[in-house]
Amino acid sequence: MVNLDWKNLPFGYEKTNYNVRCYYRNGAWGELEISSSETINLHMAATALHYGQEAFEGLKAYRGKDDKIRLFRVEENAKRMASTAAYISMAQPPVDLFTKAVKTVVSLNKEFVPPYESGATLYVRPLLIGSGAQVGVKAANEFLFLVFVTPVGPYYKKGIAPIDAIIERLSDRAAPLGTGHIKVGGNYAASLPAQDRAHKLGYAISIYLDAREKKYIDEAGTSNFFGIKNNTYITPESHSILPSITNMSLMQLAEHLGMKVERRQIAVDELHTFEEAGACGTAAVISPINKIDDIENNKTYSYCTDCKPGPVCVKLFENLTGIQYGNLPDVFNWVTVLE
Ligand SMILES: Cc1ncc(COP(=O)(O)O)c(C=O)c1O
Repeated sequence: MVNLDWKNLPFGYEKTNYNVRCYYRNGAWGELEISSSETINLHMAATALHYGQEAFEGLKAYRGKDDKIRLFRVEENAKRMASTAAYISMAQPPVDLFTKAVKTVVSLNKEFVPPYESGATLYVRPLLIGSGAQVGVKAANEFLFLVFVTPVGPYYKKGIAPIDAIIERLSDRAAPLGTGHIKVGGNYAASLPAQDRAHKLGYAISIYLDAREKKYIDEAGTSNFFGIKNNTYITPESHSILPSITNMSLMQLAEHLGMKVERRQIAVDELHTFEEAGACGTAAVISPINKIDDIENNKTYSYCTDCKPGPVCVKLFENLTGIQYGNLPDVFNWVTVLE
């Protein structure tokens, strides 16, 4: 294993040895290529640069106590990238190509998969860009699919910790019939002003409302929202949120653990009725929410006593990470163990 300060790694870019690339030209995907270069050679008129023809994914590789390396639900990321690609008129990397690329790049960079005890993981970033040149607003005819990895530090350095959230009422990240349900770069550019504002005010995340009525919870900039009450896991149903693979997994786990699951609109007015609330996504798994401030309406919704995570958040977190690291049986067949 390489010598890195695993426990103090940020969620940032750390150079590794290899990435993998595949080009789509003349209507077909080529061979997967291995590269040790950190840069790409891109035409200045590439559609990714001008018209945002760009899709990405994010997943993690986990080193278990048994030293085995596991990928979590990689096929789901493959399917989500394919649906993003289809929506913005890009060639779709087939699921087989995507999973082969992820397995190959993680295997090639095994020494960068952090040790189990560190709590750090290897973040995997698949990227698909329109690389063909166009000047009119049109889809490219050439695409580059690449996957790089980077070790990232433990999200929770001292155990699972609740965060403060703010309701964002000054901007939207996605339009009602826009691109919120797919993983395109433009959604994240649109979320930067709110994120800046939130951080300046001391909040970890901004929670977006539905853009049409400003009445229902959508999601946060990089995570889905859920609330817990009466032994029920409740999460928003909306066209403008990203279908989180973590959320999908938590819904299955919640049912497995004897809870009810509801996927439906959640009105802001319902926030005060939850016993617990949380944000979920690959980075943190679960961020229990301590409080949500709705500054413009002068309201605060609190969920934690003494800033301690609620019991349901903790149970879900332990069950999900248990499967991801191989400490619990993979009852849903979510994990790919690398040979
Ligand atoms: C907007 C948004 N919502 C939710 C998520 C969580 O999705 P996942 O659980 O697949 O990481 C992410 C992260 O990818 C995201 O960017």
